[in-house]
Amino acid sequence: MKCGLFHTPYNQPQRTPKQIFDWSIELAQICDKAGFSDFLVGEHYTLALENIPMPEAIIASAAMVTEKLRFAPMAHLLPYHDPATLAIRIGWLSQVLEGRYYLGVGPGGHHTDAILHGFENLSQLPARQIEALTIMEKVWQEEPFRFAGDFYRAGFPGPDDMPGYDVTIAKNGLWKESPFEIAVTALSANSNSMKFAGERNYSPISFFGGVDQMISHWETWSTAMREAGFTPERERLRVCREVFVADNDAEAKRRAISGGLGYSWEHYLLPIYKKFKLLDGIIKDSGVDISADEVDMDFLAEHVWLCGSSETVTQKIEALVDKVGPWGMLCINSHDNIDDMAPANESLQRFAQEVMPKVGASVPA
Ligand SMILES: Cc1cc2nc3c(=O)[nH]c(=O)nc-3n(C[C@H](O)[C@H](O)[C@H](O)COP(=O)(O)O)c2cc1C
Repeated sequence: MKCGLFHTPYNQPQRTPKQIFDWSIELAQICDKAGFSDFLVGEHYTLALENIPMPEAIIASAAMVTEKLRFAPMAHLLPYHDPATLAIRIGWLSQVLEGRYYLGVGPGGHHTDAILHGFENLSQLPARQIEALTIMEKVWQEEPFRFAGDFYRAGFPGPDDMPGYDVTIAKNGLWKESPFEIAVTALSANSNSMKFAGERNYSPISFFGGVDQMISHWETWSTAMREAGFTPERERLRVCREVFVADNDAEAKRRAISGGLGYSWEHYLLPIYKKFKLLDGIIKDSGVDISADEVDMDFLAEHVWLCGSSETVTQKIEALVDKVGPWGMLCINSHDNIDDMAPANESLQRFAQEVMPKVGASVPA
């Protein structure tokens, strides 16, 4: 199993864009040195507690000061972009990063961003995501076409478009030296995104919502893959989790609750998880007789976050693998540790260097 960082990020609302940018670059360097394989950057436009509207700016800057880390926007929200423009920018950046870049796509998960872009609700977005990706795939072929769809128009120029003069067309297609990966984000228990990902041989990446949800994501994706004639491989599954590692369980819990992880859950994530009923599966797994309204930091540290010594965190992952089967990458959600980076950075390092090798050794690929 490999490890990645999912840097949406969960920042505190008073942070300036410059603070978030500088923190992101420093964090990428820490992850690179610690042995993380992927660094994934979210895209949001109106959320004070997840404030990166331009993941590619972070990605390009961080790539220049790191060596091995692979980067992806996770996710470019396709309905909010012009697909042809985005396809060219992605192709260009994939060549700049020479194989250290792949693409995450999502329809957009927040209605405030949807309103900013002229939509009234999120249900208008998934169909646009699919059409946008169809256009982007065509642009990356770098062959002449014209396309007029339900939502977008696009094309690619060829010799017939240049009567009487010649324009040399820039080679801004995808980096071709290695296969280009596209990952689709998924959240719901019965996820249409997982089906769509499988139908097109795109990789799946999930937020964790409990054992049943993880099994359902694998089943939906792998069935769609097989039906479309592709081979589903468990290494392609990525799952995002909260993680905090320290010397011992009590210290990990104390640091997690008093640091950025505790702040985000108390002020931001817990209300969202309650509102959208995302805790149901996790409460069921815990076996604790508790309602979503009664969930507190203590419950989260025990049952939701992978929190503890490296031995405890390893055991928690192995116990989950026993129930859902192996998967390829565990992505740690990043939380604001700008005021005191040392404990969270130590946790990242211990996770990559103490937990991952043990999990990798005991879990079949
Ligand atoms: C790993 C991951 C990353 C995501 N990143 C973003 C993001 O950066 N911006 C955003 O608005 N939504 C993001 N989402 C949410 C998606 O836009 C979308 O709501 C979700 O994938 C829908 O999944 P479903 O079809 O299973 O319900 C992310 C979801 C996941 C699982």
